[in-house]
Amino acid sequence: MNEYIKNATAQFETLLNEQIARTARMEELSKPVDYAALDKLIIGICDGDGIGPIICKEATRVLEILLVDEIAAGRVELRRIEGLTLENRMAKEQSVPDDVLCAIKECHVLLKGPTTTPKGGTGAKELESANVALRRELDLFANVRPVALPGEGIDWTFYRENTEGEYVLGSRGVEIPGVLCCDFKVTTDLGTARIARAAYEFARKNGKTNVAIVTKANIMKKTDGKFARICREIAETEYPELMIEDWYIDIMAANLVNPAIRQKFQVFVLPNLYGDIITDEAAQIQGGVGTAGSANVGGRYAMFEAVHGSAPRMIEEGIGDYANPASILKAAEMLLRHVGKAAAADRLANAMQVCTAPGAKVVVTGDRDGATAKEFTDYLIETL
Ligand code: IPM
Ligand code: MG
Repeated sequence: MNEYIKNATAQFETLLNEQIARTARMEELSKPVDYAALDKLIIGICDGDGIGPIICKEATRVLEILLVDEIAAGRVELRRIEGLTLENRMAKEQSVPDDVLCAIKECHVLLKGPTTTPKGGTGAKELESANVALRRELDLFANVRPVALPGEGIDWTFYRENTEGEYVLGSRGVEIPGVLCCDFKVTTDLGTARIARAAYEFARKNGKTNVAIVTKANIMKKTDGKFARICREIAETEYPELMIEDWYIDIMAANLVNPAIRQKFQVFVLPNLYGDIITDEAAQIQGGVGTAGSANVGGRYAMFEAVHGSAPRMIEEGIGDYANPASILKAAEMLLRHVGKAAAADRLANAMQVCTAPGAKVVVTGDRDGATAKEFTDYLIETL
């Protein structure tokens, strides 16, 4: 037992030093890129696993059409990046194999299909989630997830902290076999300040007045306590025009399904795990996780992905072609907007609205009774 405690303590010391070093690099990595000043914008496309290659192929077709002139002029390149597959990751025993990471780092922004994460506690090699590794390696600190239901007056934007909290050391916990396990949650001052400012800047630029800080600071005193306090301080000193409210995550989960108050919420800023959970709930309210897009934004890099997983069951059942490309297309729209191509983003958004409206002539159900991803995208391209 003593030996375990000694090892765990030594490991904790290593982790603390690593985390302190991470905050020291944060400022450098947070500096934004001026996309308009680039000679050539490189958009990397990673298929991922399961239905990933199927939906990414369709999203690529759409991007090729929307950016046809810029691609022809050499101002934009769509670059396919191979190797972010579960087989390759397992074989190399790396969540993101080194050569894949290098290729990704040569791009400016990334469109990424879903990647399968082997779950813990099964005895299999505990590979970290590729998403989590990419978010960390590229320092993509803001996970931005919009959810809208115009008919219900819902227009929410979630700013989920994306590089720390429960995730940053989620694969680095300690264990005393047969006795206990301990995971670590990390909240840094700089990491909190930058997500708070990202959320508030968004609110300010988009005429939003209500921002909810969502934590469980009554229980997670240190980490969530710090998060809530720093978010509030920055709002009070730098964004006095915003109406800031503190909420606990449990009641917020209830609020989102409470028609009496949910329309008043506009922007949410929250730590990583709560953001993970509640954005799935919000996406479901919008019509399902298949309908939401997700932007992972840092300074130097940004990655856009579907909110849903790789749907291995659809592949096993042979119905992968019927996967819904809506979420990856939403991610493509967010990518275009992020790099300043608002006109192309609007074209895509408008066509998506037409093609997913009630009574649309092509409907994807995720099964054989619906359209395939390709049929839906053909319809979308016709509509663009
Ligand atoms: C998400 C996903 C990921 C997460 C998984 C795939 C690691 O659920 O993007 O919300 O937990 O962040
Ligand atoms: Mg999630």
